[in-house]
Amino acid sequence: MGKNTDLQKVLVIHGPNLNMLGKREPDVYGHQTLDEINTLLKAQANKLELFLEAFQSNHEGDIVDKIQQAHDSFHGLIINPAAYTHTSIAIRDALIMLDIPIVEIHLSNIYKRESFRHSSMISNIATAQIAGFGPRGYMLALEGLAQELSNLRPTLKLNTEYFPKKTLTVARKAGY
Ligand code: DQA
Repeated sequence: MGKNTDLQKVLVIHGPNLNMLGKREPDVYGHQTLDEINTLLKAQANKLELFLEAFQSNHEGDIVDKIQQAHDSFHGLIINPAAYTHTSIAIRDALIMLDIPIVEIHLSNIYKRESFRHSSMISNIATAQIAGFGPRGYMLALEGLAQELSNLRPTLKLNTEYFPKKTLTVARKAGY
């Protein structure tokens, strides 16, 4: 699969134990299963006119292989490396080779949890990070990535009568 079809392609990678969502510590990770999350992501991608592929593995090397394959095939990546977030130099090294936007996502707010979860091997090479919104975070990641890919500017219309001139100047500059 190459990049040169009509739709931009987004790859979503789910790391170890995320196949157990729904059953796994629902108070931390929510009640949605991975299948449900992927189904919602695909529906949303469809609306955003993106192609989306989802991949899950419990194995570090398989995740590295998948990232390597993404090289010429995908325009954007969403990744929850799960426990490998905190340990995997191999995944970081594979991600560094990609020249596409990367969104790191975590269901839980890793910074509010045990100290060994406070560091991420990939946060300083990712375009953005989302943590703590539960399964909804994946949808936010996709919307952010879609904007990044399309260079869409916010479409909100400002009421020019209401806002002072200075605010309008700032808003125009930001693309509103
Ligand atoms: C996780 C957080 C990690 O610390 C943990 O090992 C996971 C899931 C999250 O989505 O909150 O497996 O990445």
